[in-house]
Amino acid sequence: MDLCNWWKEAVVYQIYPRSFQDSNGDGIGDIQGIISRLDYLKDLGIDIIWLSPVYQSPNIDGGYDISDYQAVSSDFGTMEDMERLLQQAHLRGLRVVMDLVVNHTSDQHAWFLESRSSKDNPKRDWYIWRDGFQDGEEPNGLRSVFSGSAWEKDEQTGQYYMHLFAREQPDLNWENAEVREAVYRMMRWWLDKGVDGFRMDVINMISKPPEALAASGGAGCECVNGPYVHTYLQEMNREVLKRYDIMTVGETPGVTVEQARQYGASDSSELSMIFQFELMDIDSGALGKWNLRRYALPELKRILSRWQTGLEGFAWNSLFWSNHDQPRAVSRFGDDSNDENRVLSAKMLATCLHMMQGTPYIYQGEELGMTNMPFSGLEDIRDIETVNAYNELVRQKHIYTHDEMMARIRKSGRDNARTPMQWNGAQNGGFTNGTPWIAVNPNTKTINAASQAGDPDSVFSYYKKLIRLRKQYPVIVYGSYTEPDPGDERVFAYTRRWGGSALYVRCNFTAETIDNIEVPRNAELLIGNYPEPVETMRPYEARVYYGESDEG
Ligand code: GLC
Ligand code: CA
Repeated sequence: MDLCNWWKEAVVYQIYPRSFQDSNGDGIGDIQGIISRLDYLKDLGIDIIWLSPVYQSPNIDGGYDISDYQAVSSDFGTMEDMERLLQQAHLRGLRVVMDLVVNHTSDQHAWFLESRSSKDNPKRDWYIWRDGFQDGEEPNGLRSVFSGSAWEKDEQTGQYYMHLFAREQPDLNWENAEVREAVYRMMRWWLDKGVDGFRMDVINMISKPPEALAASGGAGCECVNGPYVHTYLQEMNREVLKRYDIMTVGETPGVTVEQARQYGASDSSELSMIFQFELMDIDSGALGKWNLRRYALPELKRILSRWQTGLEGFAWNSLFWSNHDQPRAVSRFGDDSNDENRVLSAKMLATCLHMMQGTPYIYQGEELGMTNMPFSGLEDIRDIETVNAYNELVRQKHIYTHDEMMARIRKSGRDNARTPMQWNGAQNGGFTNGTPWIAVNPNTKTINAASQAGDPDSVFSYYKKLIRLRKQYPVIVYGSYTEPDPGDERVFAYTRRWGGSALYVRCNFTAETIDNIEVPRNAELLIGNYPEPVETMRPYEARVYYGESDEG
């Protein structure tokens, strides 16, 4: 199905089910809740829903620890609910892409329970077991993404198993062909049910580099893009993906442009596209994301432009400012210090991203300009990554005080994205009639869907318009990309060209007014976040002009 590229013209909306809409008052978002909001998504104009995991899970890592791939978590509903969601979405012309988490399972998955039961269990080799290095030491220095060693000693057999994330998330051994076949069988089962594709969790971590596997006492390594990852993905493609008309997007931290060209090769031998995280690392520092640094615009432009031109003709970009692992887009890349700037900068960011080449992803609530959360203490936090980092950096290593760490959590913690959707201004924002599993942002009084839906000047209405333009102007989807002034520290300007037409995009990333903005000749204003264009670029102003190409 090489020619089916509907996903290039589509807009994806990510749902984090636990925080989207509760339907039964238990404080947890669920599948019936999502069904009840499909008309909202249809109104917004998106084409594809990416559903974060709804599988059976002990929920140690927000459902990314799966104990049965072919069962729905009772927190979210039943398999019938899931089938109804697919049916109701399809009825509205919406597609549904599921999260596929197969680098690891939960430690409660039947496969792991068998694997850990004895050294000669037939599933022993389905996970990665090693003897310790010398006496009582981990096999090597490999670190977990969620702090501490990536090796956990299992008392039953005295061996260690690998977990690149929480110790409750043992890594599958992809070198074992039976593992791969079991995964492919499970994928076909969901696709036969009518699922329209997969977002593949940390898919470039499934093949481990030899240093990671050696019980050598060595330092370990960064476990991405291992030696067989393309072999496995090409096999998966032959065994599963190419038999269906679907979209796939790989989550691939630490990929270069060159590697991305292979993962997302336009000959469809692996995936439709990938998520790269270079932009998401733009404000990290010595201790990774736990710092207060703000990004610099020239760096942001350099990254985005390099991916725009680097993938063109080779692979397809996915465009996103945020997801369930990242802080809120407007708080991080825009300005949430007052409501006027919040609205302007949310629209500006949307313009900047949606006019680029690639498939845009909207993370739930971004279309309302939802912000980070004023967390005050650890009791407000639910995310295992954040709790582990707090324990390591505050309690064990004394690198930060409580207050310093809380400031960092308010800036970078994953729970910023996981507070419930703000549907209205009532208590709990219309998310639940019960007690929400994580607190609703108090600013739901002013930032919510109910007040924005009918307001032509709202962030929501602006997203609607951007999505509509994409359907009308092929240059937005297919145009080539050039950036006239990479050095400008305040304005991000770029041009898209397709056939004889061109799109001129101008985004002011600052709260300053900027003089002497050159307006393209013979071009009309397609969209902007201020009522009337003037000679200057006002704070966080965004404008898109459309006209004849200035090049032959
Ligand atoms: C991915 C997910 C994240 C999860 C991790 C482990 O990065 O997006 O939420 O914690 O993988 O599955
Ligand atoms: Ca519920």
